[in-house]
Amino acid sequence: MTSILILNGPNLNLLGQRQPEVYGATTLAEIEAMCRAKADALSLSLAFHQSNSEGALVDMIHAAQGTHDGIILNAGAYTHTSIALMDAITSVGLPVIELHLSNVHAREEFRHISFISKVAVGVICGFGPKGYELAIEAMRHHLEAAD
Ligand code: DQA
Repeated sequence: MTSILILNGPNLNLLGQRQPEVYGATTLAEIEAMCRAKADALSLSLAFHQSNSEGALVDMIHAAQGTHDGIILNAGAYTHTSIALMDAITSVGLPVIELHLSNVHAREEFRHISFISKVAVGVICGFGPKGYELAIEAMRHHLEAAD
């Protein structure tokens, strides 16, 4: 069975209470439930994790090798700073879809830079929690096209 890993970076554990005017009122647990329902409907296996630590995210990307077929990554603020995450993605060679709840291009200039985009197969941003479902569909499409 095709297996997808969804990784969430710093501060995303606070979704629902964190800047709801930007990120909405949906909690990360609710997003996880949406993702599980979507994965079930598409007959995909799903792992879903969050960490505030850059090193832990690097470790989870490494551990995905041989376990998962693709990674959906909302790296939060590390998107804009982390060469380590970019290198981890290149090192494992798994397809990564970059994901953001907000439209980062309509926000501050420092959010227009992404180290993840340089190594991602594609980017989904600006669709709120729905973006997670879209990313699962996009990953399935990408993996099927690669078969
Ligand atoms: C985010 C956008 C990032 O710029 C921000 O630092 C986040 C969340 C998003 O999902 O919109 O933490 O990745």
